Parts: sequence; C-alpha cells; structure tokens
Amino acid sequence: MSMIERVQKYLFQNLGWNIDIHEPTFEAKLGRICKKLGFDVLKFCIESLKNEETDTKILQAFAREYSVGESYFFRNLQFYDYFEHTIIPQLLQKNERSLSVWSVGCSSGEELYSLAMILQNTIPDIGMWKLYLLGTDVNPHAISQANSGVFTKFSFRQTPEKYMSYFIANGGTYEIAPEIKKMVHFRYHNVMDEPYICLPPNGEKFDLILLKNVLIYFDIKKAKKVADSLFSVLKKGGYLATTPAEYGIGVFNYPHAKFLPDACLIQKDFKSLEEMIILKNEPDIIESVIENLLEAPKIKSKEDKRSHYYNALERLKNNDSDGAKLYLRHALYLDKDFVMAHILLGNILKKKGELESATKHLNNAKTKLFHMPPQEVVELSDGIMASDLLFILNSIKGEEFE
Ligand SMILES: C[S@@+](CC[C@H](N)C(=O)[O-])C[C@H]1O[C@@H](n2cnc3c(N)ncnc32)[C@H](O)[C@@H]1O
Repeated sequence: MSMIERVQKYLFQNLGWNIDIHEPTFEAKLGRICKKLGFDVLKFCIESLKNEETDTKILQAFAREYSVGESYFFRNLQFYDYFEHTIIPQLLQKNERSLSVWSVGCSSGEELYSLAMILQNTIPDIGMWKLYLLGTDVNPHAISQANSGVFTKFSFRQTPEKYMSYFIANGGTYEIAPEIKKMVHFRYHNVMDEPYICLPPNGEKFDLILLKNVLIYFDIKKAKKVADSLFSVLKKGGYLATTPAEYGIGVFNYPHAKFLPDACLIQKDFKSLEEMIILKNEPDIIESVIENLLEAPKIKSKEDKRSHYYNALERLKNNDSDGAKLYLRHALYLDKDFVMAHILLGNILKKKGELESATKHLNNAKTKLFHMPPQEVVELSDGIMASDLLFILNSIKGEEFE
C-alpha cells in the first residue's frame, strides 16, 4: 500500500470519508496540511498511521482543508416547513415545554440558527422552555464561525423575509440577534466518535437530530455506522432529518421515512399508520396490517372512528394524502358504514387515479345514504341531511367531490 493510500485509509477509518486520492489537488492539500502540522508528508503518514489512533489535531487539519462547509439559512426549506407545521405542534401537544436538537455536521451553524428562529417566532412562551440546541462539526474553523454568529450575504439564499428581523446588519455583514444566539451551542465533534458525549446535560436523548448534507464523502458502511450511532441517542418517537445527500447513499430508506421534496424524516420506533405507507401499492397487505394493529388494545368506539376521520382531515391539510388514506381505512375498519369516510376516501382515490376503488367507496356512501331516513343528518357532515347528500353525490358525474 502506497503512502497516499495509507492516508486515504486513515481518513476513511477516522472521518468516514472516502476521498479520491487521484483528485489532482490531493497531494498539494496533503502537503499544506503536513506543513501546518509541522512535519513532512512521509513523516506525517508514518506517525499518524502507525498506531492508527485518532489524533484530533490531524483530523481537524484535514477537515479544515477538505470539508465542504457550504451552508445557508433555511436550506432545504420544506424541512423547515415540516418542523414548523408538524413537529412543533406535536411538541406543543406533549405539553412538556422541552426540546433537544443536535445538528450534526452543522458547519457554520446556519441550520441550527434557522431552527432557533422558527422556535422563537412560533412559540410565544419559548423563554419558559428547556431547550438544548447543539451544533457540532469536525471542522474547527466552521465552529468558530458558528460561535461568532456573524454571516455574509452568501448565507442568505432563501431566508424568508419574516426572519430577517433576527439579524443585525452591520456594513456587509449580518449578526444573529442576541435572543437567538443564546439559544444555541456549538462545539467540535467527529460523528465517527461516541455520540453519547453530545447528549444534553440532563442525560436525556434528542428529540430531533439533523444530518443534512454531511455524508457527501461517506461510503455505505460508514454511513450505516453513523445512522446506527445517531439512532442510539434519539428518543423514541424522535426524528432524524436527512437530505438527498444522505438517503441517496441507500442506508436511510426506512419503511416509515417521510419523504419531502428536499428532505427525509425518519421517526424512531414509530409503529403507526405512517409506517404502512410503504405498503401503499399492496392493498391486501395494508388491510391485514391494519387488522393486526387493531387486534391489540381493541377499542372499537365511535370516538376512535371520529378521531381517525379528523386525523385524515389534518393529513389532507398538510397535503399528505397517503396518510389521510390510511386513517380513513382505519376509520372504515371500525365502521364500514361511515358515509363521510367513504366519500373522502373515494375523493382521494379519484384524485390519485385509482378510479375503481374510488367508485367502490362513493357507491358504498350512496347505498348507505339511500337506506337512511331522508331527514337524518349525516354524521360529521356539518348538518347535511341524508337525502340532500345523496342528491349531491348523484349529481356529480366526472367532477371531484370536495
Ligand atoms: C455541506 S456542510 C452541511 C452543513 C449543514 N448541515 C447544511 O446542511 O447546511 C457538511 C459539513 O459536514 C461536516 N462533516 C463532514 N464529516 C464530518 C464528520 N466525520 N464529523 C462531523 N462533521 C463532519 C463538514 O465539516 C461540513 O461542515
């Protein structure tokens, strides 16, 4: 094995990076790093590889020279939207007023600051919350920039206007406002190392871990190691957020992953209807999984059916028609004559082009309405009588029912 190959192996083992040593600038960069560390290339190789011990100084020097630290505020905008409109409401529902987030490979900190701004802007009593927002990176230069909280216009490629009030403009730079700055912490950490040393001071695991645009150089084995290690410090029900740079490697394609256009969220140990979305093309399996799910604490109450219906409406509001479909199937398992669930499901299926199933559900609704007393108000229909709703359904031909 040549000296250069040994350096490559060293970086792979200690940083997880699969660096191309044939890249034209590799040797020049190596020379610069060695000079900075105070020894020639050969000596450096022998010293650092002989005992294969991770030397923080060497790794930091490599990270400084090599890492692609590009970052900007609100990068992967759909992720932030999901954070604001799905994760925050879930946190508020828990009523615990606590949140711990770890931004792994945070670079100069823009993503963690973006989350802090959303929290500050969305939660009125955020000052009363127990927050632990930690950003770590293997590049010490990036960490010191994050800690400074001072950014240039390159960090503002897609910052929504409403968050600009959290910056203080000063000549050509923008400084993070003190109330946001005090919410976050940054420090050195190599994601190949023990994750437990990053846990919040109270020893609890994280609610949310961001691993966005980090695994650019990683190979699948090392990426898998990183995934396992991060899941081990994630709370049950907590989220790991990644991007195409990560799930493109192929280790993050978990069955219950929630794919957004520019991000992917994986919820730890989340066994629920969402998990079955993967089965969306296999209706028989869905049916049997739903039945199994319902086997457990079997509370086939009317309230259950209604809550599934409301959950479906909520999903639709968030443009998650697959989630809505599953909640509606769940509701119909509890009450096969649930007219509004048949209508809503029929409409979703119609929009998805699944015309045969859509017709089946709309016909089920019509049959049930036909057999109801005409003056009876249809459950959850906002006061519409059976005869009126039947008339509406019958008068719809090709168009969609809203
Ligand atoms: C492209 S930046 C991504 C920054 C931010 N997450 C974002 O999406 O905007 C990738 C960062 O990952 C860091 N990184 C790469 N390998 C790492 C490792 N082994 N441990 C910790 N950070 C690492 C790099 O130093 C770099 O700052």
